[in-house]
Amino acid sequence: MPVVTIVGAGVIGVSWARLFGAAGWEVRVSDPRPDLRDVVAEHLSGLSVVATDDLASAAQGADFVQEAGPERMEIKEQMFATLAANTGEGVVLASSSSSLLPSHIAAGNPAADRIVIGHPFNPPELMPLVEVVPGPQTSPKTVERAVEVYKALGKLPIRLKKEYPGFVGNRLQKVINDQAMYLVQEGVIDVADLDDLVRASLGLRYATIGPFQSGVLGGGPAGIRHLIEGIASQMTFEIGAPDPARTGAVVDAVDEAYGTGQEAYDRLAALRDERTRAVLRPLGWAEPRQEG
Ligand SMILES: NC(=O)c1ccc[n+]([C@@H]2O[C@H](COP(=O)([O-])OP(=O)(O)OC[C@H]3O[C@@H](n4cnc5c(N)ncnc54)[C@H](O)[C@@H]3O)[C@@H](O)[C@H]2O)c1
Repeated sequence: MPVVTIVGAGVIGVSWARLFGAAGWEVRVSDPRPDLRDVVAEHLSGLSVVATDDLASAAQGADFVQEAGPERMEIKEQMFATLAANTGEGVVLASSSSSLLPSHIAAGNPAADRIVIGHPFNPPELMPLVEVVPGPQTSPKTVERAVEVYKALGKLPIRLKKEYPGFVGNRLQKVINDQAMYLVQEGVIDVADLDDLVRASLGLRYATIGPFQSGVLGGGPAGIRHLIEGIASQMTFEIGAPDPARTGAVVDAVDEAYGTGQEAYDRLAALRDERTRAVLRPLGWAEPRQEG
């Protein structure tokens, strides 16, 4: 049974653990959180899991490492130093980081050639994409192995040609999120209506075709050139940017619209997962694996 070490048992680490565990990997989870055993009992029951707060021992004997610890460079540096010292040649050290550059995480690390970004979208067990981002020191072998493992898990790994701040997924997401914040601040639309607007338009569209494909179709038989020279050429407005000083008011409105706390989180996550599962198969993605 291959062994994966998951570093961090937060939102992303637990989901990775369920994915690897359901695919037949022996899972080692390392996290200093005091309730680690409760987390394993609640979310990872029925899987082959060893939980520990000792990263060094969790890493020893691993065939693959998926790091999902805090998004702080100094913590990542420490974690990857421990991982480098406790894993063997050829073992991929993949970070789930949302935007930290692999070259920064790998700076001064003796296993820099084995460090790569394997950035999932939340929740990794359901979302097909994993962005595979090599740094300049990442070896081609590391990238190939990471791609191979993610494919075997039923994911769609997309390899970026080079590292770039925010990678691709989160650069696109940032544009939408900033504009959503700005439009609510400007009093153009309320929080829940904005979410519905996106679900009923861009969300559904992008689940089926990408922005360039959409442009081809929006241009009719003449294709994207017609769209760019026509409709798009008239969109000359400034898109503006949200005011950081007014973020708090929008956050309050989001809390009011959806609620906060464990109950709200569980309810919203269950709804998201149910809807995601419902569309994955008809859209041609691998059947999501379900743990027992
Ligand atoms: N939340 C998302 O939507 C999302 C999506 C994609 C990628 N990511 C990335 O995944 C990573 C984890 O994010 P998250 O949202 O799960 O964070 P989180 O805060 O939910 O979990 C982080 C976990 O790391 C643990 N931790 C702290 N120090 C540690 C150490 N030294 N060793 C091991 N574990 C340690 C914490 O106790 C916590 O349980 C980040 O790099 C983030 O950028 C997050």
